[in-house]
Amino acid sequence: MPLPFDELRGRILALTEGETDEIALMATIACELHHSDDRFDWTGFYRVTAPGLLKIGPYQGGHGCLTIPFDRGVCGAAARSGETQLVADVEAFPGHIACAASTRSELVIPLHDADGRVFAVLDIDSDQPDAFDHTDAERLETLLGTVFAGHQSARRA
Ligand code: SME
Repeated sequence: MPLPFDELRGRILALTEGETDEIALMATIACELHHSDDRFDWTGFYRVTAPGLLKIGPYQGGHGCLTIPFDRGVCGAAARSGETQLVADVEAFPGHIACAASTRSELVIPLHDADGRVFAVLDIDSDQPDAFDHTDAERLETLLGTVFAGHQSARRA
């Protein structure tokens, strides 16, 4: 049974209050999200470490690919377009990167800095087909925006 979203949101905001370090925030969010919902089989972040390149960050679950160029995968599509990718069937997504053969559906949300540039993406994989909906996407987009707000201003300073 998934944790009610308000409870999950409250836990994450309480645990990350006052924190601006990117890795500390990502590690905490990946842990809390991953253990909050049986749909989530891989939960983690990819960070933009060079122009056009994503490198793995904190994650929970089995092995994750270490690097993803912007022109590949669901993560690359989110980083390139700056748009959330809600994929009901990964087999039908051109260029999907299968880090785990068991993945059936995926949700990838880009994180934007104060200047609107993508600095990372949150990637959630599910072994269930069509596991995510627009409510999941909107709630997580808002939560990430709130949690990383302090980090964005720290990045600018
Ligand atoms: N499936 C992703 C790659 C990362 S793994 O899921 C952890 C993609 O297509 O970009």
